[in-house]
Amino acid sequence: MELQGQVAIITGAGSGIGRAIALRYAQAGANIAIADLNDTGANETAEQVRKIGTSALTSVTDVADYDQVAALMAEVVKTFGRIDILVSNAGIAGGGHLVDLPRETFERVVKVHLFGAFYTSQLAAREMVKRKYGRIILMSSITALQGPIGTNIPYGAAKTGILGLMRGMTLDLAEHNITVNAIAPGPTDTPLLRSGSADLSVRSHHVPMGRMGNVADIANAAWFFALPASGYVTGTVLPVDGGAIAGGCYMVEYHRNRSQAK
Ligand SMILES: NC(=O)c1ccc[n+]([C@@H]2O[C@H](COP(=O)([O-])OP(=O)(O)OC[C@H]3O[C@@H](n4cnc5c(N)ncnc54)[C@H](O)[C@@H]3O)[C@@H](O)[C@H]2O)c1
Repeated sequence: MELQGQVAIITGAGSGIGRAIALRYAQAGANIAIADLNDTGANETAEQVRKIGTSALTSVTDVADYDQVAALMAEVVKTFGRIDILVSNAGIAGGGHLVDLPRETFERVVKVHLFGAFYTSQLAAREMVKRKYGRIILMSSITALQGPIGTNIPYGAAKTGILGLMRGMTLDLAEHNITVNAIAPGPTDTPLLRSGSADLSVRSHHVPMGRMGNVADIANAAWFFALPASGYVTGTVLPVDGGAIAGGCYMVEYHRNRSQAK
């Protein structure tokens, strides 16, 4: 098994994409630390990890709180003795039109996504450099590559900031044999996506593959970046989007023409 005996911290693994990554890594032999505000969801994921046959630790952690993230890292090191992989994945929705957007919404969304990525990366990297090995994977979004929908201003700003953070950390950590990469999912069927007001029936029209992503699609990309064998891949952003970025603004027309031709 490719990740046998390794230790992975996954934030936001109590639901959706994070849970799928936890289970994918457990299948590859990794022990999993699940950090989430949602204790019930975290425990459900832990139960599933243990059924697969590796160890799981849960921690109620707000990734936007530096002290809580520091406590998480200390607990993981005390329990497992090492940190090999960090997936900074926890995230929330939140937006509105610019002129009405509450300042608090902007601050919270940026804090959870961008500050959370920085806090978890910095504190995990401090452990990784000691062992000269690490894999850091940040969850961005295609909204960072093609511009967010107007009302997603804070989310787009945070996800774009994550790419800048990723590139800076890549240069800084390369000498320690730590890779840093980002995943940019397209629309992926999770509770987060379903909590929004957007009409999901049209989302598949933006994707050449003609369907929304599922959590396993994203977990497989996260699996690749976590592998020891991916050690020369660093500083990259990988869209996992069924071709949505490639299609861009032509996708709606493409699907209309295709359905008319049938
Ligand atoms: N679903 C999509 O279409 C999509 C697309 C692009 C990017 N993403 C990103 O993927 C990541 C996972 O999203 P998802 O769709 O699986 O959503 P989800 O709501 O299913 O899962 C997110 C998890 O993060 C946790 N969380 C939220 N705030 C937290 C905090 N401050 N501290 C710790 N945990 C917190 C939630 O409790 C939840 O368990 C997010 O970063 C999201 O922005 C999702």
